[in-house]
Amino acid sequence: MDSNKSAPEIILRAQGITKRWPGVLALNNVSFNVYAGCVHAIVGENGAGKSTLMNIISGTYPAYEGDVLLRGEKVSFQNTAEAGRAGISMIHQELNLIPYLSIAENMYLGREPLTALGTIDYRKMHRDAAQVLERLHFTEDTHKPVGELRVGQQQIVEIAKALSLDAQVLIMDEPTSSLSENETAVLFGLIHELTAKGVGIVYITHKMDELTKLADYVTVLRDGNFISENRVENTTTDEIVRLMVGRERKDFFVKQEHPKGEKLLEVCGVSLRDSESRNKYKVKDVSFDVRAGEVVGIYGLMGAGRSEIFETVFGVHPKGTTGVLRVKGEEFMPKSPAEAIRRGIALIPEDRKCDGLVLDMDITQNISLASLKKILKFGTLCKKAEVKIADLFRSRLTIKSHSARQKTGELSGGNQQKVVLSKWLLTDPQILLLDEPTRGIDINAKNEIYKLIDELAGRSLAIVVISSELPEIMAISDRIITVCGGRITGEFTRDRFTEENILRASLPDSTQTRKNS
Ligand SMILES: Nc1ncnc2c1ncn2[C@@H]1O[C@H](COP(=O)(O)OP(=O)(O)OP(=O)(O)O)[C@@H](O)[C@H]1O
Ligand SMILES: [Mg+2]
Repeated sequence: MDSNKSAPEIILRAQGITKRWPGVLALNNVSFNVYAGCVHAIVGENGAGKSTLMNIISGTYPAYEGDVLLRGEKVSFQNTAEAGRAGISMIHQELNLIPYLSIAENMYLGREPLTALGTIDYRKMHRDAAQVLERLHFTEDTHKPVGELRVGQQQIVEIAKALSLDAQVLIMDEPTSSLSENETAVLFGLIHELTAKGVGIVYITHKMDELTKLADYVTVLRDGNFISENRVENTTTDEIVRLMVGRERKDFFVKQEHPKGEKLLEVCGVSLRDSESRNKYKVKDVSFDVRAGEVVGIYGLMGAGRSEIFETVFGVHPKGTTGVLRVKGEEFMPKSPAEAIRRGIALIPEDRKCDGLVLDMDITQNISLASLKKILKFGTLCKKAEVKIADLFRSRLTIKSHSARQKTGELSGGNQQKVVLSKWLLTDPQILLLDEPTRGIDINAKNEIYKLIDELAGRSLAIVVISSELPEIMAISDRIITVCGGRITGEFTRDRFTEENILRASLPDSTQTRKNS
């Protein structure tokens, strides 16, 4: 936006918003402006109230105290459809798509275009959907069920859905948390287009570098309170982080050296066939090993086959997998995740909502879900022990919640992720596979998770971590393997960790370059 201009027009103002949940004051008299043609970022630790505030503006939570003013007029939306008609739409942090419906059906759910006869005009629906998706450079067939897309692609569908509403106020709740670098660049380009047309954008993020790249204004929330609103150019990242946590930033994580033991996991020439086309592979001829006490990072762009490597080791696709796996030197090809768990392998998946968490169950139940045997006493569940364990993790990982019996569906996104981590740590694995473990987690809690990974390595676990954040993977790994197109394209020891080395090896033409060099 033009910084010479006086303050931009306020399209929407939330004024003195208070929202109570049983046991928590999620928002305490918070005010917030959406400015025309600007990106207004909201930051704050997990559970600060960011999503709640935006869910109120977008009609998801109709009950609250305070006023929402749209161009100066008081509005009170009873649901998201009403907000949508008034020009407000939101891209949710937790994907809200219906897996068995197609891409187009998801985008136009509840507002399908109709033919003259009053039936659904599928041709128009698919045509319109394809047009919006094209702006996002997304090429999947709009008839494809959403459940068959990977998380990042689902996120793009969610973005497209919001875009198709032609909103004046567009709210994005951590939209890039599972997008690739390319997809992120496309989204940023689109955000610039929209602001140039006067759309007001609200952007929730934990990634500080996105603030400087994207935002005009930044608002900080802490524990449900409004802390500050600033123009981005008048502040610094350090200042913002200090305001977020309300104290000086905690020390940065420094990895410890741990003695390396025996090879706990060996992956030898493992391939995974693509279930859709016979001659294609999602994972091709992958070999690596991990020793006790070692942390191996897997870096690659989204869609490079990183998660699929984990899935083969975890017995998710026993039919399509070929090659040899060894656990502690013994050949072991799991036929199911249950078999892998029994052999001491744990996988913390990328998509917590589908694979990691039962939102209707409480924190305690979720944490003990994969370790029931451990908590069984004479064949009955020892409830006390269960709660005690949950409380341990709640304090250890600072899971913001009012009791161990709170439903996980009521927790903020980042805190749900911490419950997933706790659940798998309790299974006491020897081999730990972590797929984007800090997705959606705030800066301080990230450090806690790095420390935890380091500590587990110190207890002789073999750990493999997938991450899309280079600084993160470089900080926590002993070795980094790069993947692209389902193949390993490079391997780096700590002395060769540079962002450039690793990024270059993970780009699509890297196999070729390597062959030539
Ligand atoms: N449906 C709900 N029922 C009960 N409590 C809730 C509900 N949704 C959110 N909360 C609580 O409100 C507080 C604010 O949560 P919110 O989701 O707004 O946080 P956030 O700032 O978006 O965090 P994150 O960065 O982790 O996504 C948290 O304490 C959370 O547990
Ligand atoms: Mg949130």
